[in-house]
Parts: sequence; C-alpha cells; structure tokens
Amino acid sequence: MMIRIWPLMACLLFAVSCKSQKGTTGTPDRYNTQVDSVLALMTLEEKIGQMTLYTTDWESTGPTIRKGYQEDIRKGTCGALFNSHTVAFTRQLQDIAVKESPLGIPLLFGYDVIHGYKTIFPVPLGESCSWDLAAIEQSASIAAAEAAAAGLHWTFAPMVDISREPRWGRVMEGAGEDPFLGSLIARARVHGFQGDHFNGTDKILACVKHFAGYGAPIAGRDYNTVDMSERTFRDIYFPPYKAGIEAGARTIMTSFNDLDGIPSTGNKWLLEEVLRKENNFTGFVVTDYTSINEMVNHGYAADDKHAGELAANAGVDMDMQGAVFQRYLKESIAAGLVSEKQVDEAVRRILRIKFELGLFKDPYKFSDAQREKAVVFAPAHLQAAREIARKSIVLLKNEDKVLPIANGKKIALVGPLVADRNNLIGEWRASGEGEKSVSILDAFQERAARDGFTFTHAKGCELTGDVTTGFEEALRNAQTADIIIAVVGEKWNMSGEAKARADISLPGMQEQLIKELVATGKPVVVVLMNGRPLTIPWIAEHATAVVEAWLPGTMGGLAVADVLFGDYNPSAKLTMTFPRHVGQVPIFYNEKNTGRPFDPNNGYTSRYLDMPNTPQYPFGYGLSYTTFTYDSMMVARKDYSFSDTIIATVNIKNTGSVAGEEIVQCYVRDLVGSVTRPLKELKGFEKIKLAPGESKKVTFKLTSKDLAFYTADMTFKAEPGAFWVMVGPDSERLQKKEIRLVQ
Ligand code: NOJ
Repeated sequence: MMIRIWPLMACLLFAVSCKSQKGTTGTPDRYNTQVDSVLALMTLEEKIGQMTLYTTDWESTGPTIRKGYQEDIRKGTCGALFNSHTVAFTRQLQDIAVKESPLGIPLLFGYDVIHGYKTIFPVPLGESCSWDLAAIEQSASIAAAEAAAAGLHWTFAPMVDISREPRWGRVMEGAGEDPFLGSLIARARVHGFQGDHFNGTDKILACVKHFAGYGAPIAGRDYNTVDMSERTFRDIYFPPYKAGIEAGARTIMTSFNDLDGIPSTGNKWLLEEVLRKENNFTGFVVTDYTSINEMVNHGYAADDKHAGELAANAGVDMDMQGAVFQRYLKESIAAGLVSEKQVDEAVRRILRIKFELGLFKDPYKFSDAQREKAVVFAPAHLQAAREIARKSIVLLKNEDKVLPIANGKKIALVGPLVADRNNLIGEWRASGEGEKSVSILDAFQERAARDGFTFTHAKGCELTGDVTTGFEEALRNAQTADIIIAVVGEKWNMSGEAKARADISLPGMQEQLIKELVATGKPVVVVLMNGRPLTIPWIAEHATAVVEAWLPGTMGGLAVADVLFGDYNPSAKLTMTFPRHVGQVPIFYNEKNTGRPFDPNNGYTSRYLDMPNTPQYPFGYGLSYTTFTYDSMMVARKDYSFSDTIIATVNIKNTGSVAGEEIVQCYVRDLVGSVTRPLKELKGFEKIKLAPGESKKVTFKLTSKDLAFYTADMTFKAEPGAFWVMVGPDSERLQKKEIRLVQ
C-alpha cells in the first residue's frame, strides 16, 4: 500500500502543534521532528529526487538537456521545478506531485523573479542608484507578492555579485561595485522577498547568488575564470553574500565560475567552511544551471558522475537541471564515494524549507486564481514601479539648466527608444509583458493631451545596424524644435546572462545620430536606457544634458517624463563607475594608491599615455535640478578608542530654487595598514530632502568595526593608527578630517 505524506502530514502537524502548545518552543526542533518523520519513509531514489530541480518546457534560461519532468514528478524523482508559473500550471503540476507520486511530497516552484514578476521595476543596477533601501525592499516585496500569487515559492534572487566589470552583461542584475552599499541592498532585497516569516501567502524564498565571485570574470566575459586573493574575496566580494545570509536568505546558488582553481559548485571550502561553518548558513545550496556537469569542461571532474560526487561532497544540496544526482548519485553511494548521510543532510535541509513554507500543510497555499487576478499588475504596484523608476534615474549633465523642459518649448523626440515598450523592461523580465509597459512616447502623448502642447517624434535609426535613412526625418523635426530629446541605448537583451560586450559604447548609428542633432545647434538632451555603464565621452562633452534612465521597467516612460518635465527632481547617484574608455576597465572608486600614484609632473607614475586615469563619471555621482552646498565638515575630536563612536557632521544647504534630495556620502581611508588599503571606502550615507534655502546637519556615526578589514594575518579587525574620514556628494568631491584610532 502506498503511504502518501501530504494527508499524513496534516495529522502529524496537528500532533506537533498540540505538543508545541504544551510548551515545546524553538522552531528548529519542531521542524526536525517533522523532517525526520518524512525522511524515514523515503527511498534513496526519492531522497535524490528531492535534490533534483528541473526546468519545465515553458521557458528556457539555459541549455535544455532533458524532457520528461512530469514523469519524474510522478515517480517522486524530482522535488522542485523552475520556469513554471501561473496558478493554473503550478496547480496542475502540484496535483501530480501530491496525488500521484509515491509519497506525495509537495513540489517547490522557483523562477527568476529578478526585478518584478509582471509589474517590472527598473533593472536592479538602476534601482540601486536610488540608494533608497525602503524603495528597494518594497520592489522586492511587490515582486514576491505577485510571484506568490502566481503559484511561486522561490525566486532566484537577489543577485548580490559585486562587479567592477561593465563589459559583463550581468551587472544589470546587481547593485554595482561597492560592498557596503551592496550589502545593505542585499539585505533589503532578501527581506523584501522573504519578510520575517512565511506565514502568509505573499512572501517567497530568496536565493542569494551566485556564490561566489561570479562578478569578476576575466576580461568581463560571462562564465570566465575568476582569480582573486582570499583577501579581496573577503573584503570586497563576500560582504553582500554575508549580508544576504544574515538577513535570513534560506537558499544560496553556486556560481558557474571557478575561483582560485576550484569551480564553485565543487568548492568545499566555500560551501562548508565559509558558508556553513563561518556564517552559520542553515538553508540549502542549489547549483546554477548544469554547473555540476560543467565541472567536466572546467577540467576539474573526469565525467558527470565524478562531477556529481565532487558537488555532493562539497556540500551542494540541489542539482539544477544537470540530472547528475538523479543519474549517478545512487551508484556513487553504493561505491562508497558519497555517503548516504551526506544525502540525508541535503534532503533534511530541503524538506525543512518545504515545511517552513507551509507546503506540507497546504501544497496549494500559494495557488489561488482569484488572488492571482487581483495581485498581478495591481494599480498600487504600477504606481510603486513608477515611483521607484523615478528614483533610479541619474542626471549626469545639465548645462544651462536645460532641464526640466520649460513650458512652451517646441520638443522633438528622437531616437530608437522613443516609442519602444519592449526594451524598457530589460532582461530577466520574468513574466513581464513588454507591450504592456508605458513608452516615452505614450507618456509624452498623455501629457501633451493634458497640458496642451505638441511635439514631434521620429525614430532616426535602429538600436543596432548601420542604416541612417531615418536621420533625415529626425533632423527635419529637430530643425523646427527648441529642444531635442534623444532617447538612445542598448537593446533589452544586450545585458544579462551571456551578454558581455567588448565595446560598451552606444551600439549602431545612435552616436552618429546624436552628433548630427548636436550639429543643428539646438540643445540636445540625451536620455540613455541601458543595462550597464556605457562609454559616452563625446556625448558627455557635447550634449547639453545627459539623463541615465537605465532600463526603467513597466512604468519607465512615465518616470522619464516625470523627470524631464520636473515633476520629479532627480536624486539618484551612480553605483558603478562610468569609464571614459573600455581600456580603463576594471575601473572602480575604491582602488589602492600604488607606489607611484599619478603625478602630472612625473612620467614614471601610474598613468595612461592617451587618457586620464579618472572616469567619465565616478561612483556616487549624480546631479539634481537644485544645488547643494556643503559647509566644512567636523569631527567630534581627533583620538578615539576601539569602543568609541566616531562622529562626523556636515551641514548641507539647498541653494537652488526647488526642493531636492541629496545623497550625502561618508568614506574612510586607513592611512597605514598591515596590508595596503583602498584610497576610500564608503561607510555611510544619508538621503536628505531639503526645501529651497533649507539646511540640515547630517551626522555619521562610525565605530572601529567600520574601520576593520582582513589584516595581514587574515583576522578581521581594525588596526590602530591614522584614518581619514571623508564626506561629500560623490566619491571624488570629498572633504576630509584626520582621526586616530588608539589602543
Ligand atoms: C542561469 C543563471 O546564471 C541563474 O542566475 C539563473 O537563476 C538560472 N540560470 C535559472 O534560470
């Protein structure tokens, strides 16, 4: 006779909850009992099934190497699926699992909900430029609510990979180059997805990815080798993973790359030492797509079976799409190459999370057709998407205060992205629908009808290719306009996975179009929509204004129009350095000094012959329609003990004529260390809003922990000595005060 767990579990849960009412406290114990009772019923094949994750045939986010997942669910040899969503589809699959599989263990449904499920928010790199943690958490929380309403339990997000590599297409998915800000954003996004518990039906599991170092591929090419010192790994790349784990992320994904010669998916040091022992991670580890199999290509495993053994022994719990565990793990256990204990541990972790989610109580908990209809694309979500998109737009240049567009100006909208809806929502759009987004043209038309103005629009050219036949119409429109708004950028799928570019300038004939528009002598506002920092030296010099709108999501057109017309005063600042030229890459603000720092009067210093060292736009940079002045910064005193709080203050005044927000930034530099230290490291920021003429004192409080790093003996601590505390509007325009940390 077949025992099916789901009805059985209802009784068991009742028994356990009666017990807990009698005073048994502590969640882990309760789950242990439940998990063990299920584990005891399972065959080895079923255990391995829980360690197996397959994509459905709905979508492909990698090479599809296997069909027949429904049969696997039926046999109990697949415990989790991805690329399956909507109530109708997940319910149909869950039915197979709970009604037809031998034990009826519910499936876990995952999906890449990266910046929204249906309501699409700006790409995460753009969103990070808001430096608005509450807004970022809200966008993750809305994404979770929509995804959960569509039957999902688990998102493969947030991607917390620090990157100094604009050629790498996946920078669009991250929070930029800085470990401090990246950690705060990781925490906000994990909390947004997961909340404090899974009692309701609007939170889903987060998955911190890609562990580890994936954002530093050599030459910026996706999947490429990563080689860095353990110190750089711990100081720069690890902190956001740590923050995500500390925020409670219940799953983590291994990365495709090798790190110091060991592929992450077979890296016991990463998974057992760093993750589980040092950082007390208790959730489960899933691989990236076929990354077990790929250890063969890496030259680390002889064949798939060997790769599976390396992964299982390194501490991987779930095989995404590779089918290696399913095909070989039983054999490896029989041969004594993997222990069944290791498998039991992995299955325990996975089952525990299914319990935590409440799936054993109600496998259809997330699946409710009415909720799906009400929640997905809810008006409040669209409003939030518009607000967050506005907060993500960075004003890079605004000569002659050409923006906001003054009343009565004759406007020529030009460019391949003017009328476009599809590109706006970018890569990793989950279930997003390009055609449902609001283009810039839509937004201008709405305003024109409301406010009674007219404008022209012309495409000019495509995003790529060398056709210039559209120039003529665009230039004709431009000749009769007072102001030209050129909307240019990258295609939605020029950033994202496997989308590295060696040339990160504007593709196609777009720059040529802008040159010809500028030659008309009319003011030209360039609106950029792209998923990575671009090299735009000519535009930066010659355009009248430059607005970085990123790939702004479903409500992107409205958000851009809000900024261009001054309904929203831009407040965002870059979280990734914009190089002048791709030859400067990797370029990032927290670099070290070298023994021969650049000196214009000395040729034998660190420099390029053909280019300044400095970026086009530095980390932390962004303008407003108003101006802010910073008074002299103050520190409370010079000497501090290790237990003191270091206090730095600065008065900021809005000296312009409109209200505005400023992101005030605080950096430190350790002047002498047991190992060399960066010239500056972000350690605090505050976003303040000031009315015209208003001043505000901003106070930064630092402790010795903020001055700590991995010292020469690899202990994480602050060293006594002199430091600079620096304050300013971006990573370049900084005032400083010297302080001393004394024993
Ligand atoms: C591969 C990507 O690297 C990863 O980020 C994603 O979650 C999986 N494919 C699943 O789509």
